[in-house]
Amino acid sequence: MPGLLVAQPPPAPHVIGPATKNVTLPSEPLPQYLLDQARSTRREEFYAPKHINFQPPANIVSMKEIGLEGHGISPNAVSEPFRLFTDEAVQQIRAEVFSEEVLKDCRFASTFNKQMVRGMGPARAPFTYAAWNSPELIAAVSKVAGIDVVPSFDFEVANINISVNSGDKPVAEPKKEDGNPLGDGLSSVAWHYDSFPFVCVVMLSDCTDMVGGETALRTSSGEIMKVRGPAMGTAVVLQGRYIEHQALKALGGRERISMVTCFRPKSPHVRDETVLTGVRGISHKSEMYTQYTEYRLEILEERVRAKQKSERTRVAARRPFDTEETRRWLIEQRAFIDSTLEELTGE
Ligand SMILES: [Fe+2]
Repeated sequence: MPGLLVAQPPPAPHVIGPATKNVTLPSEPLPQYLLDQARSTRREEFYAPKHINFQPPANIVSMKEIGLEGHGISPNAVSEPFRLFTDEAVQQIRAEVFSEEVLKDCRFASTFNKQMVRGMGPARAPFTYAAWNSPELIAAVSKVAGIDVVPSFDFEVANINISVNSGDKPVAEPKKEDGNPLGDGLSSVAWHYDSFPFVCVVMLSDCTDMVGGETALRTSSGEIMKVRGPAMGTAVVLQGRYIEHQALKALGGRERISMVTCFRPKSPHVRDETVLTGVRGISHKSEMYTQYTEYRLEILEERVRAKQKSERTRVAARRPFDTEETRRWLIEQRAFIDSTLEELTGE
């Protein structure tokens, strides 16, 4: 609602992907040209001045403009596509995604994305890992997000969605879907909220001959706003945890390969409403739970340290104990532990 200044809890996210115990593998093989290209690429180490070419977006849609002022953790809702990587960087990332080591361990499928590569990690994908963890890239994404953010955890560096056209068909065939609020049969994924506060979507394909591929957002008044999808090497940053959105299908072109990296607030004192709903079915659970639990405990650790420090300062300044404030702080941490508990489900 316009003018709403009190932050509201985010709506429950829709489940993306099967919430099964075992992950699903893609049924279709990948075309040989992707593997050949990867093999013939001369590998390089990541070097920010050569591989990052950040050009801030011409426009960033604000939460206020879509009627969601006060929601989320930043005033910025979604950016226009902006240049983030050089073409050399895109080739290096593709070489890692389609390498033998990665394809052996990191392929996943879900109802919505039939071909995904996830959880490549630093050993299998050192370039991609170094890129997303570089101070230059983190500063660029933070600037567009409107708040200091860091990659959520290693398993989400990065998620690659692969859509390949084997014949003369368009990359994605338009079909009429019941209940599609856009009514044009062109939605690629149902309306949803993301599991992570921010996502950065980077295009790894040449989209020159493609139409569509936009992101549709639903404003608080129910209107639909479309935001242009990224072109090769460019990115879009979206506060997807707090904005209902869907990806629209792209038509034409030989392939559409996009890379999605998830971000959370850098400060342990900013609320972190990350959930694992959307990724539990498309991850190696032990690995993901380890990484999620580690950073959640780190946040708690930082908060406890800060609280103890402020308590010592209070005593030194001879101010009396503030029961109400300490109770409020404890209740907040209890809620934080409760929400962590809710995410760690299953055996
Ligand atoms: Fe999304």
